[in-house]
Amino acid sequence: MWREMRLSFNIFAFITVASAHQDILQPITTNYAPWTHQPVCTEHLDAIDSPLCVYTNATFSNGRGISIFTTPQIAEEVAELLPLQDPAILASHGVNPDEGPWHVRELPGKGMGVLAKHDLHRGDRITAYTPCLLAHMENVLSTPEREKFWRIAIDQLPCHSKEHYLSLATIYGDPSVVNQDVVKANAFEMQLGGQMHLAVFPETSRMNHACSPNAQYYLEPSLLAHFVHAARDISKDEEITISYAPPMQPHRARQHYLLDAFHFTCTCSRCRNGKASDMALEEIDNLQSSLGDWSADSTASVKNAEALIRKYKEEGLDAFLDTAYGHAALTYNAVGSVRGTEKYAKLAAEAVTFKYGPSAAELDMWRELESKPQRHSSWRRRKSIG
Ligand SMILES: *[C@@H]1O[C@H](CO)[C@@H](O)[C@H](O)[C@H]1NC(C)=O
Repeated sequence: MWREMRLSFNIFAFITVASAHQDILQPITTNYAPWTHQPVCTEHLDAIDSPLCVYTNATFSNGRGISIFTTPQIAEEVAELLPLQDPAILASHGVNPDEGPWHVRELPGKGMGVLAKHDLHRGDRITAYTPCLLAHMENVLSTPEREKFWRIAIDQLPCHSKEHYLSLATIYGDPSVVNQDVVKANAFEMQLGGQMHLAVFPETSRMNHACSPNAQYYLEPSLLAHFVHAARDISKDEEITISYAPPMQPHRARQHYLLDAFHFTCTCSRCRNGKASDMALEEIDNLQSSLGDWSADSTASVKNAEALIRKYKEEGLDAFLDTAYGHAALTYNAVGSVRGTEKYAKLAAEAVTFKYGPSAAELDMWRELESKPQRHSSWRRRKSIG
């Protein structure tokens, strides 16, 4: 169906180059660099004080291609980013590999899912990809208008990327808005030029949701990339999952979010056992407020910190252990245990990296604590030996 609706656009403007030696048709690609196509723009939109335009680089990252629907100003900023300046930079970060330790399979009653090709260890890289489509979040265009521009964005991608995009899951199944439908079902949010953009990463889109996911993701806007790492050990043929919903919210709020945003009813174990899951969250909350109390009469102990970590793991919240490990590192330091501090500061840094990436601000603090525990203000702050 989409093939019939496809708008036909000139990929290159052709001119005749007459020279002493040859007389041939040559594509002009220079004037739009780093874009391979002439940008196609909406009118000026008052609400964002700019037009929005489609920018495509069809040869981006070894012919994967990328289309961005954004303001001319943000497009200029994106054009300056390393991945568009230096084609080797993505490969040097392992981004857009031909294959990884995962494959897509049809799962009974679940549609498509991603399975581990072999055993994975906590921290192993699973996917690292740039988006096919990035689109400025807005509420200004009508649905048909938006569809028109997003269709141009997808049409201008190389064939295999376009087909990959259009093969992804949809929510409404209405072919006249298929490009938006794919975004609705598959997009992540990426901040570019201070504005939220919707981003579709076709490979990663196949990962299903779990409230106790075994993998964690982060976005690295400077590389225009999305990374997924194993949050705990994963066995061969186990499904790889990430969380689409705020994991620490009560189960009713998570359910509501998933239904509203993705139109599905969550059936993972933390959703099926909502009451138990809420009670566990309450325990986690209580332990965290106790461990976060640094007043003189606080009774927080390393036992509480260990209990907190256990609770996270029992709930399958391995992907979110940064907070628990952080509390443990500080609590061990507060009772003067260098070994405990080192162990948990290292784990906190690792968990922060899976969740926020290697340039996360919190990393410095955990590394500092690990290397010089006695220098930290938490050193021997608590009397109890726990
Ligand atoms: C498209 O992006 C690549 C980086 O992957 C860059 O090397 C190339 O010059 C860009 N194309 C144009 C026309 O600028």
